[in-house]
Amino acid sequence: MRAAWYVVAMRVVFLGPSFPNEMMEYTRGLAEVGATVLGVGDTAREALPAKVRPYLADYLHVPRILDEDDVMERVSRWLGGRTVDRVLANWEPLVILAARLRDRWGMPGMSADVVRGFRDKELMKERVRAAGLRVPRSRRVRSEREVREAVEAIGYPLILKPIAGAGSADTYRVRSAAELEPVIAAMRGIPEASCEEYVEGEEFTFDTVCVAGKPVYENIAAYLPKPIEMRSVEWISPVIITVRDMYQPKLAAGVELGRKVLTALGMGDGFTHMEWFLTPKGEAVFGEIGGRPGGAHLVDQMNYTSDIDLFREWARVACYQRYEAPKERKYNVGIVFKRAQGQGRITRITGLGDWLQLAGKWVVEEKLLRPGTPRRNWKQTLLSDGHVLVRHPDWAEAYRLSFAAATGIKMYAE
Ligand SMILES: Nc1ncnc2c1ncn2[C@@H]1O[C@H](COP(=O)(O)OP(=O)(O)OP(=O)(O)O)[C@@H](O)[C@H]1O
Ligand SMILES: [Mg+2]
Repeated sequence: MRAAWYVVAMRVVFLGPSFPNEMMEYTRGLAEVGATVLGVGDTAREALPAKVRPYLADYLHVPRILDEDDVMERVSRWLGGRTVDRVLANWEPLVILAARLRDRWGMPGMSADVVRGFRDKELMKERVRAAGLRVPRSRRVRSEREVREAVEAIGYPLILKPIAGAGSADTYRVRSAAELEPVIAAMRGIPEASCEEYVEGEEFTFDTVCVAGKPVYENIAAYLPKPIEMRSVEWISPVIITVRDMYQPKLAAGVELGRKVLTALGMGDGFTHMEWFLTPKGEAVFGEIGGRPGGAHLVDQMNYTSDIDLFREWARVACYQRYEAPKERKYNVGIVFKRAQGQGRITRITGLGDWLQLAGKWVVEEKLLRPGTPRRNWKQTLLSDGHVLVRHPDWAEAYRLSFAAATGIKMYAE
């Protein structure tokens, strides 16, 4: 008889199985590929949503999930003598913790040192630069004096951002000495920052699911406009469209850069989410990379692009290093985030009916917050006051329908 290795259930410690929301999909994916999922999170056991419970074989509630040393002790004690095959996390603040647990238990997967290359924005740039790839000139800065020295060396325009940031929070563009002073004041609470040359150009993602550092699924999405603009101008409805024809010549430099970055950083198995710039001269410049999936429904967009379930496919890769879903790209998938005018609760939505009629069968999701719901903080979450998702095989149509939603649908709050 052949060894039926795949029926031997993998025992997986999955950190943060219910938060943020989409983590529940990875928990499901793990269970669906046959893993025994041992969840660890700071959500109380009673508060775990019903939809995730069936997929958790066991769960440890910890008081502070971001307190790495404390969680490591508690998880070790909780497991007692039980063996574990994988420790996984897909939420940015937990990826180092997962790696430290793997290191402690001598387990397969990326070490904490490797994962730091996906987390520390200066370290990642050093490693990518050392591989001869194009990275913005930058410096790590830890004090006001170091900021001023870096500004001297790098020149305007430049970017100042925290070393371990996410969600473009506290990312500032500085165009002149006059603009520098308020930014220095605003960044006082941040222990370490990155000071970078500002790169002009369009901005894209390069997303992968990798086996041993080689992509088994790839994606490019276009940011319209660049995230820094999305996050700083409230009236903008941010649009992100996955590019069906991602291997077109215009984007080739980005794909090549992306693959080389993975090698430079020692990628293993799992998701990556890179951001890069395409300069007016056609050069691809590294922005940043995470060793985890993109947030804000990007995985849903990829799923709609190829009609697949990457939540489950990631789990298969993470457990068995196998990818089974089709790779064909069938659609350009646009997501449009809306922000209401006014504060407080959503009162009404206009233009939605017309847009739904215009986009017809190409609409895949309409999840705008309903009247009566409190507004979300658009500065804190790109999700803003909800979204629509629309797809089309032709780029121009996907673009047109996405921007018709961006301009034609309006939300109001008071
Ligand atoms: N060197 C740069 N040149 C031009 N724009 C930049 C540069 N660095 C950052 N930006 C802009 O600022 C945005 C946020 O920066 P970055 O992605 O490093 O931070 P983040 O907080 O991790 O963002 P997010 O979590 O939203 O991806 C980028 O998407 C880009 O639009
Ligand atoms: Mg970013």
